[in-house]
Amino acid sequence: MTTGPLLSVENLSVEFHLRHGMFGRARTLSAVRDVSFTIEAGQTFGLVGESGSGKSTIGRAILRLAPATAGRVRFDGEDVTAFGPRTPLHYRRDVQVVFQDPMSSLNPRQTVGETIEQAIRRHRPMDAAASRREVARIVDSVGLAAYHAQRHPHELSGGQRQRVAIARALAVQPRLIVCDEPVSALDLSTQAQVINLLVDLQHEFGLSYLFIAHNLDVVRHVSHRIGVLYLGRLVETGPAADVHAAPRHPYTRMLVASTLVADPQLQAERSRERRLQVRGELPSPLAPPPGCAFHTRCRWADEGCRQRMPELEAIDGESRAACIRLAEIEAEELAA
Ligand SMILES: Nc1ncnc2c1ncn2[C@@H]1O[C@H](COP(=O)(O)OP(=O)(O)O)[C@@H](O)[C@H]1O
Ligand SMILES: [Mg+2]
Repeated sequence: MTTGPLLSVENLSVEFHLRHGMFGRARTLSAVRDVSFTIEAGQTFGLVGESGSGKSTIGRAILRLAPATAGRVRFDGEDVTAFGPRTPLHYRRDVQVVFQDPMSSLNPRQTVGETIEQAIRRHRPMDAAASRREVARIVDSVGLAAYHAQRHPHELSGGQRQRVAIARALAVQPRLIVCDEPVSALDLSTQAQVINLLVDLQHEFGLSYLFIAHNLDVVRHVSHRIGVLYLGRLVETGPAADVHAAPRHPYTRMLVASTLVADPQLQAERSRERRLQVRGELPSPLAPPPGCAFHTRCRWADEGCRQRMPELEAIDGESRAACIRLAEIEAEELAA
């Protein structure tokens, strides 16, 4: 045990080498570019950004399912990127994952009880009676009824299936769970239930989460800190409440403005912010715009933005943003 953060992602880059057709030119897709953040034990780091911004690739690099082209991932002081081709058993146990679609990650032929029992057997061998008690305890801890242990995935609702995926992760007593869009496929009320479950389990077991979602409102509810990803780069990081209530980077403002909220007063404020909404599509990561990658969609971008790649710099509090025009933008706003 070390006293540093549980997980530390240090200048991580992930590139994919693509080749189209037999004689096609080899091209490099930079999915993740120089990303750094840490997760403390018992805390949640929320990663937010549009589809294609590199969120899952970061999660996969932590899980060793995507190769780090540069940089490092450390877990409890250990250099994960330096592991050999076989991921050590202790790391496979410590770091679990919950994906968006449990239907594709759960074995359709196994009952819920068998799925959980299998995870226990792999990492925490115990006798049959103890294992049965443990399965029952875990089923209960994720809010399922005892009879659900006899059910197959297709007999369950989407929310129940996601509870099973969480149960399977919990069964091995992990320290970190990568939650990759775990509620994105669920209806709103089920989303809230699953999110509340994750928060309860965090308190009960001291779990850490990397919580990935494209919706900033969802991420805000579970996260202690948030990182906003744009075309593979972090453009803003900070305490969840600050990033959500007072977004600084133009891209984060756009994300906040584009989120629909239930509260009418808040929605009115958001609508005023709609002028901040930037049109246009996410550029291709095969050809990211030079300088600040967001300049093609940013209403404040000037010549400098097209030329200079902004670094993440401390703004105030514990926040950081990568925008060379931040001070001017905010002065302009105050004057308006
Ligand atoms: N295995 C892969 N091979 C090639 N390109 C990939 C691979 N995985 C992801 N990508 C590309 O990397 C970029 C980031 O993808 P991803 O991490 O899945 O984004 P997100 O999870 O934010 O939607 C996308 O352009 C995607 O097409
Ligand atoms: Mg994804």
